[in-house]
Amino acid sequence: MSELLAALGDVEVHGPATGAVTAVTHDSAAVTPGACFVAIPGRRADGHDFIPEALARRAALIVGQRPIPADFPTGRTYARVADARRDLAVLAAAFYGQPSRRMEVIGVTGTDGKTSTTRLIDAILAQASRPTGYMTTVDFKVRDQGWPNNTRFTVLEAPEMQRMLASMAEAGVECAVVETTSSALALDRVYGVAYDIAVVTNITLEHLEVHGTLEAYRRAKAMLFEAVDPDARKPLPFHVPRACVLNADDSSYAYLREFCRAPIVTYGIEAEADVRARDLELGVDGSRFRVTLPDGVTFDVRTPLVARFNVANCLAAIAVGYLHDIAPEVMASALARFEPVAGRMERITRGQPFAVVVDYAHTPESLELVLNVLRPVTTGRVIAVFGSAGERDRVKRPLMGAVAARHADFAVITDEDPREEDALSILREIAAGAEEAGAREGTSYICVVGRRAGIAEAFRRARPGDTVVLAGKGHEQSLIVGRDKLPWDDRAVAHDELAALGYAESREAIT
Ligand SMILES: Nc1ncnc2c1ncn2[C@@H]1O[C@H](COP(=O)(O)OP(=O)(O)O)[C@@H](O)[C@H]1O
Ligand SMILES: [Mg+2]
Repeated sequence: MSELLAALGDVEVHGPATGAVTAVTHDSAAVTPGACFVAIPGRRADGHDFIPEALARRAALIVGQRPIPADFPTGRTYARVADARRDLAVLAAAFYGQPSRRMEVIGVTGTDGKTSTTRLIDAILAQASRPTGYMTTVDFKVRDQGWPNNTRFTVLEAPEMQRMLASMAEAGVECAVVETTSSALALDRVYGVAYDIAVVTNITLEHLEVHGTLEAYRRAKAMLFEAVDPDARKPLPFHVPRACVLNADDSSYAYLREFCRAPIVTYGIEAEADVRARDLELGVDGSRFRVTLPDGVTFDVRTPLVARFNVANCLAAIAVGYLHDIAPEVMASALARFEPVAGRMERITRGQPFAVVVDYAHTPESLELVLNVLRPVTTGRVIAVFGSAGERDRVKRPLMGAVAARHADFAVITDEDPREEDALSILREIAAGAEEAGAREGTSYICVVGRRAGIAEAFRRARPGDTVVLAGKGHEQSLIVGRDKLPWDDRAVAHDELAALGYAESREAIT
């Protein structure tokens, strides 16, 4: 307890200041005897209301923002802090022995491409025989052990996040690559994580419901770059590079560079950049390009990843590889062998005469990109099946509709996690944007409540040579309707609905 209280700094403490603490949590229901319970005023409930429950469950230490409760028992400890959410992260890091200082930590942020870029960085470092670990929306890895992320959080709450970092440090991981969302940054889930390299993919509108404005959203992402302290000392037996990796082609570049204290390395396809790609050849089953490194060395890359944005993701990863002095041939072979992330441009084949592609694109920008990637490789029409999540970023709904109107030949507007909102009204908001961009209901788009029904309808309308893209869910394993989290898998549903139309070939998906 004294160590945890010391981590909090100069705070008001009532009760004993020593003794064993067995866990750190902000969930009163998870309190076990001897735990430290942190009361956080949340969006839905106030953790301070659960202090009696935490005490009943024999918490040893309660940390809160409010004055000590009048009936607080003697013999237990109450620490009053200024910002309980931030201090949850501080306590978790202290409890697990500051794991982020026992490894190199690389953070990847951006609106789109975080998971892909995190995995690409890991692939390059692992190809160079570095022991790595990563955390992404899709999965986790600690050295040779990988398992799916079924939490629906890209970035875990601070105690789980720190525990995972600690398990990496204990397993001998030297480089941890952490997908770091702007909400995790804004909610201080990664507060106190000693990042060595910060990487950005791009910054566009998303998750505005959390941040209010694009400005606040960009500001949250900038926190990752501020967190890289060029003077921080990590006494480790291997070299730890420190840098900020920025996308010279993205509008985030000029903004983020102001927040960087560590040296900047840029990457780009269009703009002049330290790590630059040229001579792009983009195909349906992969991409090729030539890379120039800051030291002038050039090399060719060939990867099964499709689309221009993946070339950018590769460049970000190459920049990180370069900072680690990894040889170009090693980087090229990692990228050549890279297995695309599940649910990212994943093809579903069952002998049907049209193509079916599942992709996680759920922003106007990424949907536009995906439609544009599929256009040149489709002889017939490009049919987009997509929606927009309930209780999230309303601004993007009409924008998604407009993108489909402009870049798809036909759109089926359907559910994507309506949550407790009325599903049809979300579809109407998307449709309004489609209408504005010239689409007409019945001829260029339809609205179908129920994602399965929407997918089935798209398949019924597909003709030979068409491409049907199921966008927005990717690998996700649930669909949130009302308060229920229903089991879901776009790829399995696609197989079912193709089977229902009589296409009986094996379930084997070719990715
Ligand atoms: N650099 C990028 N720029 C724009 N869109 C991208 C980029 N990388 C990936 N995408 C799109 O975003 C989708 C999600 O990719 P993912 O790597 O899971 O990103 P994130 O983790 O940021 O959500 C992809 O399926 C693709 O459509
Ligand atoms: Mg992700």
